[in-house]
Amino acid sequence: MANQINTRCDLMLFGALGDLAQRKLFPALYQLERARLLADGSRILAIARTDASAPDIRNQLLAKLRQHVKSSEFDASVADAFLERVDYKCLDFTDPSGFSDLNDWRDSANNQLIVYMATPPSMYGVIARNLRAADCCIDKTRVVVEKPIGHDLDSSRVINDELGEVYNESQLFRIDHYLGKETVQNLIALRFANNLFASQWDQNHISHVEITVAESVGIEGRWGYFDKAGQIRDMIQNHLLQLLCLIAMDPPSDLTADSIRDEKVKVLKALRRITPDMMERYVVRGQYVAGTSNGKPVPGYLEEEGANKGSSTETFVALKVEIDNWRWSGVPFYIRTGKRLPEKLSQIIIHFKPAPHYIFDPDQKHLANNKLIIRLQPDEGMALKILTKDQGLDKGMRLRQGPLELTFSETFDTDRIPDAYERLLWEVMKGNQYLFVRRDEVEHAWRWVDQVIQNWQDIGEPPKRYAAGTWGPVASIAMITRDGRSWYEDA
Ligand code: BG6
Repeated sequence: MANQINTRCDLMLFGALGDLAQRKLFPALYQLERARLLADGSRILAIARTDASAPDIRNQLLAKLRQHVKSSEFDASVADAFLERVDYKCLDFTDPSGFSDLNDWRDSANNQLIVYMATPPSMYGVIARNLRAADCCIDKTRVVVEKPIGHDLDSSRVINDELGEVYNESQLFRIDHYLGKETVQNLIALRFANNLFASQWDQNHISHVEITVAESVGIEGRWGYFDKAGQIRDMIQNHLLQLLCLIAMDPPSDLTADSIRDEKVKVLKALRRITPDMMERYVVRGQYVAGTSNGKPVPGYLEEEGANKGSSTETFVALKVEIDNWRWSGVPFYIRTGKRLPEKLSQIIIHFKPAPHYIFDPDQKHLANNKLIIRLQPDEGMALKILTKDQGLDKGMRLRQGPLELTFSETFDTDRIPDAYERLLWEVMKGNQYLFVRRDEVEHAWRWVDQVIQNWQDIGEPPKRYAAGTWGPVASIAMITRDGRSWYEDA
């Protein structure tokens, strides 16, 4: 019980029967129950359009929990206790008349109100207005919204304005679930708790940075959504730029939300614009064609269920990003992300510059830079590649590169690493915004991404093809090779 927060929460979950809620949010809330982090008296109101009774919904949720929670972590008595907290309300989100019932549910206890909109963003403003009209939003209400906030700068402003008419910024918790991942959080500890790295973290010591977020899955039945977004809006505008910010930002003066977010915004503002003449060297757009995944044949993007055969939406993006500030001048960040790549893998590689004067075997000079590998998933951990002497009388001063390895699950004997949504929901309950994205971050990220998309549209070239199960178009390899470097797994 020691960790329980004192605040009892009432969580209104709009879109409770949608994919996100069923696959991620309810399992995360179940895990909080299991960890005894939900305060006694906390309640959940599942809200959706389906006409069903609360017991039916609880049965349905139980089946989904069994499906999405690992069997070793599933405890029927915990699930029962959790589901006792859950009530259900059938509601048309666009019809203000039903919202007053929400207030009745709400009035029955004086808990901290959390409104989670697991709905398409076009619904955020409508729900917020209807809640206000029903007097169902008090000053203390916390509101959680999901990405994507819009599909460009202008549309994100409309959504943020609509939310801003009802709630102030300190009430808004914009989710980028990458910020809830254990290792992403660890970037803050790594950088600002270890002076060893703090003193090396700039253009004097780092030659370049790689960020890879690879997925082996394809579109998984989400063609309708994905085809309008593409990989740049779905992944770069949010997850990859957030990772880049955490790597590149200056030390915040403390761990408060605004101190961290102020520093991230400075990075976003310093991203160099990619002008049309830079596109060929700085940006690669790809789309997968049929290939294999885990040894099995898989269709191409244009052959997926529901596909529009003429689509030129990208499923892969690689970018060379430069940051125009003192710390990062001349240090490119190569970032790439794609669907149907060979494996699910998210990692950041910090490549340090070689020692100023090299005295070992010239044949081994290519080994002579340290690398810090930060594995976000799978196998969360870090490795620092350092050079040592090879052992044995016959080896002379041959060098060998080996890791100083920190695999979280082994070193810290953790039985499980919590899912990002568990942490994020827990932080909302505590009212801590530091893992959530502020309005100006969203807007600066869109401003930068919009100019790349505009260039694509002006140039009008189709995306480059790559076979499913490969590391993207060869042009992405050429992009980094041109600078005399290679992606880490190719090295
Ligand atoms: C989501 C994207 O935000 O992140 C998906 O919309 C993507 O397209 C997912 O698959 C990846 O998240 P994770 O946590 O599985 O790396």
